[in-house]
Amino acid sequence: MTAKKSEVGDIILSIRSITKEFDGVKVLDNVSFDLRRGEIMGLIGENGAGKSTLIKIITGIYLPGGGSLELNGSQVQIPDYITARKLGISTVPQEFNLINTLTVYENIFLGNEFRLKSGLLDKPRMRELAAKQLEELRMPVGVNQLVSRLSVAEKQMVEISKALMLHAKLLIMDEPSTTLTGHEVETLFALMRNLKKQGVTIIFVSHKLGEIKAVCDRVTVLRDGKLISVDEVSTVNEEDIARKMIGRTDFSQIFPAKIDRPADTVVLDVKDLSIKGLLKNISFSLRKGEILGFAGLVGSGRTELAEAVMGLRQINGGSVNLEGKQVQIKKPAAAVNYSLGYLSEDRQGKGIVQGFNLPQNITLISLKQYLKGLFINKKAEADKTEEYVKTFRIAAASQKMALRYLSGGNQQKVYLSRWLDTNPSILILDEPTRGIDVSAKHEIYEFIHQLASRGISCWVISSELEEVIGLCGRVYVMREGSLTGCLEGAHINEEEIMFYATGIKGSQV
Ligand SMILES: Nc1ncnc2c1ncn2[C@@H]1O[C@H](COP(=O)(O)OP(=O)(O)OP(=O)(O)O)[C@@H](O)[C@H]1O
Ligand SMILES: [Mg+2]
Repeated sequence: MTAKKSEVGDIILSIRSITKEFDGVKVLDNVSFDLRRGEIMGLIGENGAGKSTLIKIITGIYLPGGGSLELNGSQVQIPDYITARKLGISTVPQEFNLINTLTVYENIFLGNEFRLKSGLLDKPRMRELAAKQLEELRMPVGVNQLVSRLSVAEKQMVEISKALMLHAKLLIMDEPSTTLTGHEVETLFALMRNLKKQGVTIIFVSHKLGEIKAVCDRVTVLRDGKLISVDEVSTVNEEDIARKMIGRTDFSQIFPAKIDRPADTVVLDVKDLSIKGLLKNISFSLRKGEILGFAGLVGSGRTELAEAVMGLRQINGGSVNLEGKQVQIKKPAAAVNYSLGYLSEDRQGKGIVQGFNLPQNITLISLKQYLKGLFINKKAEADKTEEYVKTFRIAAASQKMALRYLSGGNQQKVYLSRWLDTNPSILILDEPTRGIDVSAKHEIYEFIHQLASRGISCWVISSELEEVIGLCGRVYVMREGSLTGCLEGAHINEEEIMFYATGIKGSQV
């Protein structure tokens, strides 16, 4: 007798009453739901709701405290990720697991290397397969490039390729789209739909409700570690999902009112700034107390421009003027002395220190304020940390927790607190709400707004058009290393931004 071939819709994984505690704090409480073959299941919930923890249990990184997992009808133990992989479960983690000193293809095949009969590595074959995979993802990165040289979006694609190489039956993607924009997200979705046709089941974590609606068949909502609902996506709208996540029915407007007219004083004036091969004659100004947006596609040079102003990149031409005086900023410490702050888009690589706790991360740059002679005033540090914890509702069991144990969104809030603690007069925010849930986003927007009303100039780089449109009084658009447009008032809309970002409109300004 041949085994019955499974059909689309069969249950492949049952999650049964899963519970998990850390130091007596329940982060998953009796969570049960089923996954069917060939479906895309959205998994959504506020920062710290327990999404990544659940995924870590399914992939063998954590053992559940209680409950069980059933794969194709039989109970399984998944004590480590190798077992998970053997069972056909693979994952694109929220925080990358790539080795910077290895090349792209070496990372893709790490732990799964192809070998020749002689036992030597079959490098040509691995290079060829890696190149094919990246081409399918339409990601133009060379397989021999070092991972350390890749952008965050490119690193993400390497993680995805790595997971796809394993021919998984269940593919789990923890916020894969946060670092991608426009056509990259579309490519990812096309790929997901294709995998689905092949019978692969996908768990897709995202804070973007529109994405859940666009690509998922069903959606599971977690709140405070508890399962709230499992719905067919066609039966719920974005607001329904948000309500279930937040557990409140009042749903105030997400963006605060725009600041009418910022002061005319120019605090930062950049003239003809160029970096060979990256930036071409960029001139723009930032005024006191304004929220200035920088839009453009990934790779358009927005981050490089911010890094140049912060002294993280060498400038080949042009000048940076602060309050009318030309300055030469050669390193970030000098920028901090000029009261400049820069929240990098690469939170993990250039931001937080995983092994440090909350106060250590928050006062990393502003530590001088807390010194009493040779000692750190721990009380002052703890009080200040508590203020940030309250302002941003940072979910952490205690201040003593190392950042690696905080959820992704909560790490981002700690990172933002660090820059606020330096009392900047100009704050550059590169993708400030990456990984932040819908309701916390609102709080961060309010906060940026408050900063601006206190006279702090906020330079916001964002790939989320909605964010730039909702928040900024003026928006510069970049394309391939040049500024192509400056939009104000009613001109700040999706269409105009995309016209300038893609080159339909505008030449260098
Ligand atoms: N190893 C750990 N030790 C202690 N606490 C932990 C550990 N791992 C996770 N937590 C806690 O469990 C809770 C849930 O975290 P989790 O990472 O699952 O959230 P999440 O839903 O993925 O959030 P986000 O949207 O921010 O990524 C958080 O409060 C977090 O601090
Ligand atoms: Mg998470």
